[in-house]
Amino acid sequence: MTEPLIDPFQRAISYLRVSITDRCDFRCVYCMSENMTFLPKKELLTLEELDRMCSTFVSLGVEKLRITGGEPLVRKGIMTFFNAMTRHLESGDLKELTLTTNGSQLERFAGDLYAAGVRRVNISLDTLDETKFADITRWGRLPQVIRGIDAAQRAGLRVKINTVALKDFNEDELFTLVEWCKSRDMDLTFIEVMPMGDIGNEDRLDQYWKLSDMRARLAEEYTLTDLAERSGGPARYVRLDETGQKIGFITPLSHNFCESCNRVRLTCTGELFMCLGQEDMADLRAPLRNNPGDNAPLEAAIRDAIALKPKGHDFDYSRQDVSGRMSRHMSHTGG
Ligand code: GTP
Ligand code: 5AD
Ligand code: SF4
Repeated sequence: MTEPLIDPFQRAISYLRVSITDRCDFRCVYCMSENMTFLPKKELLTLEELDRMCSTFVSLGVEKLRITGGEPLVRKGIMTFFNAMTRHLESGDLKELTLTTNGSQLERFAGDLYAAGVRRVNISLDTLDETKFADITRWGRLPQVIRGIDAAQRAGLRVKINTVALKDFNEDELFTLVEWCKSRDMDLTFIEVMPMGDIGNEDRLDQYWKLSDMRARLAEEYTLTDLAERSGGPARYVRLDETGQKIGFITPLSHNFCESCNRVRLTCTGELFMCLGQEDMADLRAPLRNNPGDNAPLEAAIRDAIALKPKGHDFDYSRQDVSGRMSRHMSHTGG
């Protein structure tokens, strides 16, 4: 038996998020600048290296694997990787294989993903208005994403919609989004916008829409019941008694959930970030590449990294300036 991964604050690390590409076919204003410079290909872990990396984490007790990006489905050959992970689902070592996507490529991949053992997808969607959708994503088109959602549901995938809450942008769509998700039997989670990356002129303080305000707005129309359940992620859930719907809130800024953090993040170049809100990271690519036939150095590097996992992030909007702002883009760590 190998020892499980336990950090200095006695948190067991059972959830690995893997950003398999920094590229994306959208340019969401809160995530990327219009002219992004992407990593040269040789910097990226190959699909075989990603397999070895993820399999090592699974052997160390990781039970949930979420593939993110950029947009994960724009990486060439991506199904080879998903198909390789199926063996860990079949052995029972991995409990869940899933992804977070913008939905643009789901029309093409939904069936294959289901066949590989994926049962749930999180799809990012901030508005149901075509013009606003094109504005916020710059390059995205709503009908394509809706077709992707249709394909996912047809394939049997459970869909959760992630909506970034943006003041003066989708405040007026709160009830429309809730009702739309109800009508399609999809879960819905709202995310507070986080101060990531240096992204043009957008002022993150102006965009910040507190989810406690949103909750109060929802409570004017629905009876809210707090739910104790967790999905293994940072979301807290409420039930709308009138419809039976479950709505999630991810409030990294107004509510600190770090004490129960069970995850670490791997980037497409093999950096392991121990916290979304801190700069600390460990390079796992060198121990992986330098030791093709021997996993021991990689395992040791992973254990050393986990031993450095910080207690929590330092995002803070309560001051005049955005403090704790991260210089890297969200697409780097995949959220
Ligand atoms: P499930 O609970 O499994 O559905 O997924 P999840 O909420 O962990 O994953 P998802 O990719 O849907 O996460 C949505 C967003 O929540 C991410 O993109 C981040 O913006 C935010 N988020 C997820 N995990 C963390 C975390 O550990 N810390 C912070 N600050 N934000 C997080
Ligand atoms: N703040 C909050 N959420 C963000 N996302 C991307 N950038 C940010 C940000 N600055 C979200 C996307 C998607 C998930 C991967 O991360 O909308 O739901
Ligand atoms: Fe792409 Fe997602 Fe970032 Fe939008 S938020 S640019 S869809 S990675």
